[in-house]
Parts: sequence; C-alpha cells; structure tokens
Amino acid sequence: MPRVLVVDDEESVCQMLRDLLEAEGYAVLTALHASKALEYLYGKDEVNAVLVDIRMPDIDGLEFFAQIRREGYTVPVIVMTAYGTTDTAIQAMKLGAFDYVLKPFNIEELLLTVQKAVEVDHMARELTALRRELAGKAPGKEIEELIGRSAAMHEVYKQIGKFADTDYTILIVGETGTGKELVAGAVHRNSKRRDGPFVRINCAAIPENLLESELFGYEKGAFTGASSRKLGKFELAHGGTLFLDEISEIPLAMQAKLLRVLQEKEFDRVGGIKPIKVDTRIIAATNRDLGEMVCEGSFRADLYYRLNVITIRMPPLRERKEDIGLLATHFIQQAAAKLNKPVQGISDEARELLEAYDWPGNVRELRNVCERAVVLTRSLLIVPEDLPATLQSGFEGEVTAEKWTGQTLYEILSDVERSVILRALKKHNFNRTKTAQELGINRRTLYEKIKEHGLETSLTEE
Ligand SMILES: Nc1ncnc2c1ncn2[C@@H]1O[C@H](COP(=O)(O)OP(=O)(O)OP(=O)(O)O)[C@@H](O)[C@H]1O
Ligand SMILES: [Mg+2]
Repeated sequence: MPRVLVVDDEESVCQMLRDLLEAEGYAVLTALHASKALEYLYGKDEVNAVLVDIRMPDIDGLEFFAQIRREGYTVPVIVMTAYGTTDTAIQAMKLGAFDYVLKPFNIEELLLTVQKAVEVDHMARELTALRRELAGKAPGKEIEELIGRSAAMHEVYKQIGKFADTDYTILIVGETGTGKELVAGAVHRNSKRRDGPFVRINCAAIPENLLESELFGYEKGAFTGASSRKLGKFELAHGGTLFLDEISEIPLAMQAKLLRVLQEKEFDRVGGIKPIKVDTRIIAATNRDLGEMVCEGSFRADLYYRLNVITIRMPPLRERKEDIGLLATHFIQQAAAKLNKPVQGISDEARELLEAYDWPGNVRELRNVCERAVVLTRSLLIVPEDLPATLQSGFEGEVTAEKWTGQTLYEILSDVERSVILRALKKHNFNRTKTAQELGINRRTLYEKIKEHGLETSLTEE
C-alpha cells in the first residue's frame, strides 16, 4: 500500500486529507510540524509521497523540502499553497518539488497529483534497485537514467510502468534525440525479461544486403564466405528484448520477413532448412511518420499495425521546457565529473537562454551544448558566454557583427555552420541525402560535420 505523508499545521486539513487519501487506498501519516514529519521520514516505514503546506510556524515547507533533499531523500514532494502565493509555489518547483496544489483543494486534481507522485516514486525506486543490482554485476557500468518531471515525461513513465511487464510489441516514436533508445532500455529493465539479453540493431546503419543475415543469421555454406554458422539478432535476443532502431529504414522485402517473425515467432536462417522458433520481445523506434510512409507505399500497412500495438510518444524538448534546467544540471555535473572540473551547475541567465531555445536536436543537442560549456567555462556556474552564440543571441544563426562579444572567428563560423546544418536536417526530416544535396556538400562531409557538432543520431554512431 503506498504511503503518503501529510504535513500541515492545521489539524483539520490533516484530518481531511487523511480521510480522503485513506478512502483511496493510501496509508497516511500526518504531522503538524516539520520536525515530526522528519521523524517519519527517517523511520523505518517507506514514504512514497509527501504533501507539505508552505506556511508553517517552525520550519516552513520550502525549508523542509530543501532539508530532506540535502539529506538525500528523493521522495516526490507536493507543495500545498493558498491562492495568491503562487510565487512560493513556483520557487518550490524551481527547487525541484514534484508539483504544487492550490488551497482550497480541487479534490480530483489533488488525487491525480498524489497518484502521479506515487507512480514516479515507484519507478524511481525500481530504477535505483536495478541500477544497484547491475552495478553489483558489472562494476563501473551504470544504467542511464531518464530525467524529467514534466507532465509529458510522467506520461512516458506511466506507459513504461504499464506495459513493460507485458510482452506487447512497443513502438516508440519521436523526434531525434528525445530519448527513444533510453526508453527502450527502461522498458526492458522493468520487464520480466530483465535478466535476459537486450539486443539492439540499427536498421539504418546496416547495408541492405547484410540486413537479413544480421537479423536472422546464416548457416555454414549459405553463401561464399559463410565458413561457419552465425546467429542473428533475433536468436541472440531469445528470452530477452530485441530493439529495432530506425525501423522505417527497413527495405520492403525485409519487411515481409519481419512480419512473419512477429506473427509466427519463427524465421529461417539464411540457407537454413528448418524454421527457428524464438521467444523475443520486440521494441521498435522511429523518428519518421510510419503512417505517412504507409500511405506513400514505402512501409507495409500490415507490419505497421503489428508494430503499433502500443505506442509511446516521446515529447520534443521544446514542449517540456520545465525539464531543461534539470537535464542541463545533470549533464553539466556529469561532464564536470568526467573532466574533473569544479563546475557545479548553471546560472539563472544561462538557464533562461536554454529555455528560450527551440532544441531541434532535443535532449542530445542539450547534452552536447552542456558538455561543450563545461569544457569552455572558467567559472563554477555555466554562464551565457559559455553557450554557443546562436543561443546567446536568441536567434538561430543570427550572429551579427554588432553582437560580437569576443569569440574567435572560428567559434562564430562554427556556430553558424552548426545551426544551418541543424535547420536543414530538420527541414528534411533528418534525411541526410536530401540535406547534403541542399547544402551543396556530399554525404560524407555532412556526416563529418554532424559528428563535429555533436549532432549525430544513432545512424552515425555505429
Ligand atoms: N529523459 C532523458 N534523461 C536523460 N538523458 C536523456 C533523456 N532523453 C535523452 N537523453 C540523452 O540524450 C541522448 C539521445 O537519446 P537517445 O539516443 O535515446 O535518443 P533517440 O530518440 O533514440 O534519438 P535518435 O532518433 O536520433 O536515435 C542520449 O545521450 C541520452 O542519454
Ligand atoms: Mg535512437
């Protein structure tokens, strides 16, 4: 039974919330002041969400919140505040509170918020446990965690929680760099197949003539050069999960073979004589609109419907700007640790610039900007000068002479180049051939530039 801790100096509020939440099946602890609440948190019973009043006599809500975070408690905290004091609520959100609710309560909204908080707490605990488990198994190898507290990300966590443990095929859709691969991994780790293999294949990175043997393997002597049997990804993922990345890039001929495995759970190795049966869960991802491709005739409708049982939509970063500060701090601290620099975070001004930007390359682009900033900075907090000029001026590509603030010519040109390439990639839906054509460079040069500017998608990672 999830446990909720209610902290409010008014006894009637505590009582009301206790009745309400207990009726919904929560275990409820109430505290009339912060010190009592801390006792509960330090106690042996696990607390899954905290509702705390902002205005309290001894320690107020914000201070209470700051204190438990300092002590390393990650439990989601919902702040309760009266109308007209939203400034404090906003401050609480900035400090990383889970959400805030207004008094007098809208009961439905309150319950929904508590429910979400408890779900997120559950996910977070599972991920922590898994991370610990994995760290024990393979020292040094950590599971990348999904970061984000926006409503849109909560929706994603909810979907993961709901469908991870089923064997349904999942299609993850979303723009480049939104975290599709991360989500695929999270689904696997939260499924009952977690001890089985997680195998990834990037359909765009493998030449068409090799794709079949990569997926299904081949028998010895199947073709010249096949000197021994090779297992395909489907077999390697037996008992686990196969992640088909960039599924839109599978040629039509292969689509038919893929459909057969999805329907019948069996396939032939190249040159094989009897079908192989496998128990493999499929997760696919794409940044293209498969529905549209079906209409154009470049993707089979039957395969689309097979893949599209459950769809998880990754929100673009520009639609969840409230996550930008959180993500940036995380990437900055990660890079600082790696580079052994004493950088601690980001200044308000720099964060505001990040929040104002459009992020066509989404979280991946943000990560690159943060890493670059950590390399460049000479202070303890990232400041606007550490960010690419395109972000500083607030307009993509608009680095004008009047705005020059001492960057080298190379830095300026590089910034312009970067945003032009991004813009072109975006215009062509990240189709590299068309982008290269329009920019008047060859594909190879484009690949190199994409790499240089840290704009690579998984297409170039392999
Ligand atoms: N919610 C998140 N929290 C932390 N890191 C994230 C998050 N989303 C994405 N990232 C990071 O951003 C980068 C891109 O993520 P990922 O590779 O999963 O994107 P993608 O959607 O698969 O992109 P593409 O379509 O280009 O393959 C990775 O470095 C990943 O760790
Ligand atoms: Mg990817």
